Amino acid sequence: MKNQIEQLKRTKNAVILAHYYAPAEVQEIADYVGDSFYLAKIAKQSTADIIVFCGVQFMGESAKILNPDKKVLMPDLTADCPMAHMVADGIIEEMRATYEDLAVVCYINSTAELKSKSDVCVTSSNAVKIVKALPNRNIFFIPDRNLGSFVAQQVPEKTVILNDGCCPIHAKITASQVYEERKKHPGASVLTHPECDASVTALSDYIGSTADIIAYVKKSDADEFVICTEDGVDHKLITDNPGKRFYYPDPNPCCADMKRNTLAAVLSVLQKEDKEVTVDEEMRRRALIPLDRMLELAK
Ligand code: 13P
Ligand code: SF4
Repeated sequence: MKNQIEQLKRTKNAVILAHYYAPAEVQEIADYVGDSFYLAKIAKQSTADIIVFCGVQFMGESAKILNPDKKVLMPDLTADCPMAHMVADGIIEEMRATYEDLAVVCYINSTAELKSKSDVCVTSSNAVKIVKALPNRNIFFIPDRNLGSFVAQQVPEKTVILNDGCCPIHAKITASQVYEERKKHPGASVLTHPECDASVTALSDYIGSTADIIAYVKKSDADEFVICTEDGVDHKLITDNPGKRFYYPDPNPCCADMKRNTLAAVLSVLQKEDKEVTVDEEMRRRALIPLDRMLELAK
Protein backbone atom coordinates (compact mmCIF):
# COMPACT_ATOMS: atom_id res chain seq x y z
CA MET A 1 0.00 0.00 0.00
CA LYS A 2 2.82 2.40 0.86
CA ASN A 3 4.43 1.87 -2.57
CA GLN A 4 1.12 2.42 -4.36
CA ILE A 5 0.51 5.61 -2.35
CA GLU A 6 4.00 6.90 -3.23
CA GLN A 7 3.41 6.24 -6.91
CA LEU A 8 -0.03 7.89 -6.95
CA LYS A 9 1.34 10.92 -5.13
CA ARG A 10 3.91 11.42 -7.85
CA THR A 11 1.65 10.83 -10.85
CA LYS A 12 -1.16 13.03 -9.49
CA ASN A 13 1.03 15.76 -7.94
CA ALA A 14 -0.60 15.14 -4.57
CA VAL A 15 0.70 15.99 -1.12
CA ILE A 16 -0.26 14.23 2.13
CA LEU A 17 -0.69 16.19 5.35
CA ALA A 18 -1.18 14.30 8.62
CA HIS A 19 -1.86 15.40 12.17
CA TYR A 20 0.19 13.87 15.01
CA TYR A 21 -2.94 11.99 16.14
CA ALA A 22 -3.24 10.10 12.81
CA PRO A 23 -2.17 6.42 12.87
CA ALA A 24 1.64 5.89 12.90
CA GLU A 25 1.74 4.22 9.46
CA VAL A 26 -0.07 7.23 7.96
CA GLN A 27 2.36 9.67 9.61
CA GLU A 28 5.13 7.61 7.98
CA ILE A 29 3.84 8.16 4.42
CA ALA A 30 2.86 11.80 4.94
CA ASP A 31 4.86 14.64 3.37
CA TYR A 32 4.08 16.90 6.31
CA VAL A 33 3.18 15.91 9.89
CA GLY A 34 2.39 18.52 12.50
CA ASP A 35 0.03 20.32 14.81
CA SER A 36 -3.06 22.22 13.62
CA PHE A 37 -1.22 25.52 13.12
CA TYR A 38 1.66 24.07 11.12
CA LEU A 39 -0.69 22.07 8.90
CA ALA A 40 -2.88 25.12 8.20
CA LYS A 41 0.20 27.09 7.09
CA ILE A 42 1.39 24.21 4.89
CA ALA A 43 -2.07 23.87 3.32
CA LYS A 44 -2.18 27.57 2.48
CA GLN A 45 1.23 27.50 0.80
CA SER A 46 0.82 24.23 -1.06
CA THR A 47 1.35 24.24 -4.82
CA ALA A 48 0.29 20.58 -5.27
CA ASP A 49 -2.83 19.81 -7.33
CA ILE A 50 -4.29 17.59 -4.61
CA ILE A 51 -4.03 17.92 -0.82
CA VAL A 52 -4.90 14.73 1.08
CA PHE A 53 -5.63 15.81 4.64
CA CYS A 54 -5.33 13.02 7.24
CA GLY A 55 -7.06 14.71 10.15
CA VAL A 56 -10.63 15.64 11.01
CA GLN A 57 -13.25 17.72 9.16
CA PHE A 58 -12.29 21.14 10.50
CA MET A 59 -8.73 20.61 9.26
CA GLY A 60 -9.76 19.62 5.72
CA GLU A 61 -12.25 22.48 5.71
CA SER A 62 -9.60 25.01 6.84
CA ALA A 63 -7.26 23.79 4.08
CA LYS A 64 -10.00 24.38 1.49
CA ILE A 65 -10.83 27.82 2.93
CA LEU A 66 -7.16 28.85 2.83
CA ASN A 67 -6.34 27.36 -0.58
CA PRO A 68 -9.63 27.09 -2.54
CA ASP A 69 -8.14 26.28 -5.97
CA LYS A 70 -6.77 22.97 -4.72
CA LYS A 71 -8.65 19.71 -4.62
CA VAL A 72 -8.73 18.86 -0.89
CA LEU A 73 -9.47 15.21 -0.16
CA MET A 74 -9.93 13.40 3.14
CA PRO A 75 -9.47 9.64 3.57
CA ASP A 76 -12.73 9.60 5.56
CA LEU A 77 -15.09 12.56 5.34
CA THR A 78 -16.96 11.37 8.44
CA ALA A 79 -13.87 11.90 10.65
CA ASP A 80 -15.15 14.82 12.71
CA CYS A 81 -14.20 16.62 15.90
CA PRO A 82 -17.21 16.68 18.27
CA MET A 83 -15.96 19.86 19.94
CA ALA A 84 -16.09 21.73 16.61
CA HIS A 85 -19.91 21.91 16.97
CA MET A 86 -20.17 22.75 20.68
CA VAL A 87 -21.45 26.32 20.49
CA ALA A 88 -25.16 26.96 21.12
CA ASP A 89 -27.18 28.67 18.37
CA GLY A 90 -27.48 32.41 18.87
CA ILE A 91 -24.90 32.69 21.67
CA ILE A 92 -22.32 34.59 19.60
CA GLU A 93 -24.93 37.21 18.67
CA GLU A 94 -26.07 37.34 22.33
CA MET A 95 -22.49 37.97 23.55
CA ARG A 96 -21.91 40.64 20.91
CA ALA A 97 -25.09 42.40 22.11
CA THR A 98 -24.11 42.08 25.79
CA TYR A 99 -20.43 43.06 25.87
CA GLU A 100 -18.81 46.20 24.54
CA ASP A 101 -15.35 45.97 23.03
CA LEU A 102 -15.70 42.22 22.45
CA ALA A 103 -13.65 39.94 20.19
CA VAL A 104 -15.00 36.49 19.34
CA VAL A 105 -11.94 34.23 19.39
CA CYS A 106 -12.51 30.90 17.69
CA TYR A 107 -10.32 27.85 18.26
CA ILE A 108 -9.54 26.34 14.85
CA ASN A 109 -11.30 23.15 16.10
CA SER A 110 -14.64 24.58 14.92
CA THR A 111 -16.99 24.45 11.93
CA ALA A 112 -16.61 26.88 9.00
CA GLU A 113 -19.90 28.46 10.10
CA LEU A 114 -18.54 29.28 13.58
CA LYS A 115 -15.35 30.66 12.06
CA SER A 116 -17.40 32.84 9.71
CA LYS A 117 -19.04 34.52 12.74
CA SER A 118 -15.75 35.11 14.59
CA ASP A 119 -13.13 37.86 14.64
CA VAL A 120 -10.02 35.72 14.76
CA CYS A 121 -9.04 32.05 14.85
CA VAL A 122 -6.38 30.56 17.11
CA THR A 123 -4.75 27.20 17.68
CA SER A 124 -3.36 25.84 20.92
CA SER A 125 0.14 26.95 19.89
CA ASN A 126 -0.71 30.62 19.30
CA ALA A 127 -3.88 31.37 21.36
CA VAL A 128 -2.09 33.22 24.18
CA LYS A 129 0.00 35.33 21.80
CA ILE A 130 -3.01 36.27 19.66
CA VAL A 131 -5.37 37.10 22.55
CA LYS A 132 -2.62 39.31 24.05
CA ALA A 133 -2.23 41.11 20.70
CA LEU A 134 -5.94 41.86 20.24
CA PRO A 135 -7.01 45.44 20.97
CA ASN A 136 -10.24 44.26 22.65
CA ARG A 137 -10.76 44.17 26.42
CA ASN A 138 -13.38 41.38 26.38
CA ILE A 139 -12.91 38.00 24.72
CA PHE A 140 -15.60 35.41 24.00
CA PHE A 141 -13.59 32.22 23.56
CA ILE A 142 -15.27 29.39 21.58
CA PRO A 143 -15.73 26.40 21.62
CA ASP A 144 -13.17 25.01 24.14
CA ARG A 145 -13.66 26.03 27.79
CA ASN A 146 -10.34 24.39 28.75
CA LEU A 147 -8.14 26.18 26.22
CA GLY A 148 -10.19 29.31 27.02
CA SER A 149 -9.47 29.07 30.75
CA PHE A 150 -5.77 28.41 30.06
CA VAL A 151 -5.70 31.61 27.96
CA ALA A 152 -7.56 33.50 30.71
CA GLN A 153 -4.84 32.50 33.22
CA GLN A 154 -2.06 33.60 30.89
CA VAL A 155 -3.71 36.90 29.91
CA PRO A 156 -5.13 38.20 33.21
CA GLU A 157 -5.45 41.75 31.86
CA LYS A 158 -8.45 40.68 29.72
CA THR A 159 -11.88 39.36 30.60
CA VAL A 160 -12.31 35.97 28.96
CA ILE A 161 -15.88 34.68 28.71
CA LEU A 162 -15.91 30.90 28.42
CA ASN A 163 -18.17 28.71 26.31
CA ASP A 164 -19.23 25.27 27.55
CA GLY A 165 -17.50 23.05 24.97
CA CYS A 166 -14.60 20.64 25.33
CA CYS A 167 -12.71 17.82 23.67
CA PRO A 168 -14.25 14.59 24.97
CA ILE A 169 -10.88 12.81 24.68
CA HIS A 170 -8.84 15.33 26.68
CA ALA A 171 -11.70 15.94 29.15
CA LYS A 172 -11.54 12.26 30.17
CA ILE A 173 -8.01 12.69 31.51
CA THR A 174 -8.28 13.17 35.28
CA ALA A 175 -5.97 14.45 38.00
CA SER A 176 -6.13 11.06 39.75
CA GLN A 177 -4.93 9.29 36.59
CA VAL A 178 -1.97 11.69 36.49
CA TYR A 179 -1.23 11.06 40.21
CA GLU A 180 -1.22 7.32 39.46
CA GLU A 181 1.34 7.71 36.67
CA ARG A 182 3.46 10.00 38.86
CA LYS A 183 3.43 7.38 41.63
CA LYS A 184 4.62 4.70 39.18
CA HIS A 185 7.23 6.99 37.58
CA PRO A 186 8.30 9.51 40.26
CA GLY A 187 10.99 11.19 38.13
CA ALA A 188 8.76 11.78 35.11
CA SER A 189 7.85 15.26 33.86
CA VAL A 190 4.14 15.80 33.16
CA LEU A 191 3.46 17.42 29.79
CA THR A 192 -0.12 18.43 29.03
CA HIS A 193 -2.24 19.73 26.17
CA PRO A 194 -4.30 22.83 27.11
CA GLU A 195 -7.49 21.01 26.03
CA CYS A 196 -7.21 19.15 29.38
CA ASP A 197 -9.16 20.23 32.44
CA ALA A 198 -7.61 22.87 34.75
CA SER A 199 -7.21 20.20 37.50
CA VAL A 200 -4.80 18.39 35.15
CA THR A 201 -2.94 21.41 33.79
CA ALA A 202 -2.38 22.55 37.41
CA LEU A 203 -0.34 19.37 38.04
CA SER A 204 1.77 19.74 34.93
CA ASP A 205 5.38 20.75 34.38
CA TYR A 206 4.63 22.04 30.89
CA ILE A 207 1.48 22.94 28.91
CA GLY A 208 1.51 23.19 25.12
CA SER A 209 0.21 22.06 21.74
CA THR A 210 1.18 18.66 20.32
CA ALA A 211 4.13 20.22 18.47
CA ASP A 212 5.15 22.18 21.60
CA ILE A 213 5.12 18.97 23.70
CA ILE A 214 7.23 17.18 21.07
CA ALA A 215 9.72 20.07 20.94
CA TYR A 216 9.88 20.22 24.77
CA VAL A 217 10.78 16.51 25.04
CA LYS A 218 13.56 16.85 22.48
CA LYS A 219 15.21 19.66 24.45
CA SER A 220 14.61 18.21 27.92
CA ASP A 221 17.33 16.47 29.96
CA ALA A 222 14.69 14.27 31.64
CA ASP A 223 14.21 10.77 30.28
CA GLU A 224 10.70 9.91 31.51
CA PHE A 225 7.50 11.76 30.67
CA VAL A 226 3.80 11.46 31.42
CA ILE A 227 2.05 12.68 28.28
CA CYS A 228 -1.45 14.11 28.77
CA THR A 229 -2.75 14.21 25.22
CA GLU A 230 -3.93 11.82 22.50
CA ASP A 231 -1.54 8.88 22.16
CA GLY A 232 -0.87 9.43 18.42
CA VAL A 233 2.02 11.71 19.46
CA ASP A 234 3.82 8.59 20.71
CA HIS A 235 5.05 7.76 17.20
CA LYS A 236 6.98 11.01 16.81
CA LEU A 237 8.14 11.02 20.46
CA ILE A 238 9.60 7.51 20.17
CA THR A 239 11.17 8.15 16.75
CA ASP A 240 12.85 11.37 17.86
CA ASN A 241 13.97 10.22 21.31
CA PRO A 242 15.20 6.61 21.34
CA GLY A 243 16.43 6.58 24.98
CA LYS A 244 13.40 8.31 26.53
CA ARG A 245 10.24 6.70 27.93
CA PHE A 246 6.65 7.90 27.62
CA TYR A 247 3.64 7.05 29.77
CA TYR A 248 -0.01 7.94 29.22
CA PRO A 249 -2.95 8.26 31.59
CA ASP A 250 -4.69 4.87 31.82
CA PRO A 251 -6.69 4.17 29.63
CA ASN A 252 -4.66 5.71 26.79
CA PRO A 253 -6.41 8.80 25.39
CA CYS A 254 -7.40 7.89 21.82
CA CYS A 255 -9.43 9.93 19.28
CA ALA A 256 -11.42 7.42 17.20
CA ASP A 257 -12.09 10.06 14.54
CA MET A 258 -8.39 10.67 13.94
CA LYS A 259 -7.84 6.92 13.68
CA ARG A 260 -10.26 6.73 10.72
CA ASN A 261 -7.33 7.89 8.58
CA THR A 262 -6.10 4.38 7.78
CA LEU A 263 -3.51 3.54 5.14
CA ALA A 264 -6.21 1.73 3.11
CA ALA A 265 -8.42 4.83 3.22
CA VAL A 266 -5.52 7.05 2.05
CA LEU A 267 -4.82 4.70 -0.87
CA SER A 268 -8.50 4.52 -1.82
CA VAL A 269 -9.02 8.30 -1.81
CA LEU A 270 -5.90 8.82 -3.93
CA GLN A 271 -7.14 6.23 -6.43
CA LYS A 272 -10.76 7.41 -6.63
CA GLU A 273 -10.48 11.11 -5.67
CA ASP A 274 -14.00 10.68 -4.35
CA LYS A 275 -13.93 12.27 -0.88
CA GLU A 276 -13.55 15.92 -1.66
CA VAL A 277 -14.00 18.69 0.90
CA THR A 278 -16.36 21.43 -0.27
CA VAL A 279 -17.25 24.74 1.41
CA ASP A 280 -19.99 27.10 0.25
CA GLU A 281 -18.20 30.06 -1.43
CA GLU A 282 -19.91 32.81 0.59
CA MET A 283 -19.15 30.94 3.84
CA ARG A 284 -15.58 30.31 2.69
CA ARG A 285 -14.94 34.01 2.09
CA ARG A 286 -16.27 34.94 5.53
CA ALA A 287 -14.39 32.13 7.33
CA LEU A 288 -11.15 33.10 5.57
CA ILE A 289 -11.04 36.48 7.34
CA PRO A 290 -10.43 35.13 10.91
CA LEU A 291 -8.08 32.43 9.59
CA ASP A 292 -5.97 34.97 7.70
CA ARG A 293 -5.99 37.24 10.73
CA MET A 294 -4.61 34.37 12.81
CA LEU A 295 -1.80 33.77 10.32
CA GLU A 296 -0.96 37.48 10.41
CA LEU A 297 -1.07 37.93 14.21
CA ALA A 298 0.89 34.72 14.86
CA LYS A 299 3.85 35.86 12.77
P1 13P B 1 -2.78 20.72 18.18
O1 13P B 1 -2.09 19.66 17.36
O2 13P B 1 -2.85 22.00 17.42
O3 13P B 1 -2.16 20.83 19.51
O4 13P B 1 -4.30 20.28 18.34
C1 13P B 1 -4.75 19.24 19.08
C2 13P B 1 -6.05 18.72 18.62
O5 13P B 1 -6.86 18.30 19.37
C3 13P B 1 -6.32 18.68 17.22
O6 13P B 1 -7.52 18.12 17.04
FE1 SF4 C 1 -11.36 16.90 18.40
FE2 SF4 C 1 -10.36 16.04 20.66
FE3 SF4 C 1 -10.21 14.47 18.52
FE4 SF4 C 1 -8.71 16.72 18.69
S1 SF4 C 1 -8.57 14.90 19.99
S2 SF4 C 1 -9.92 16.03 16.94
S3 SF4 C 1 -10.10 18.08 19.81
S4 SF4 C 1 -12.09 15.12 19.57
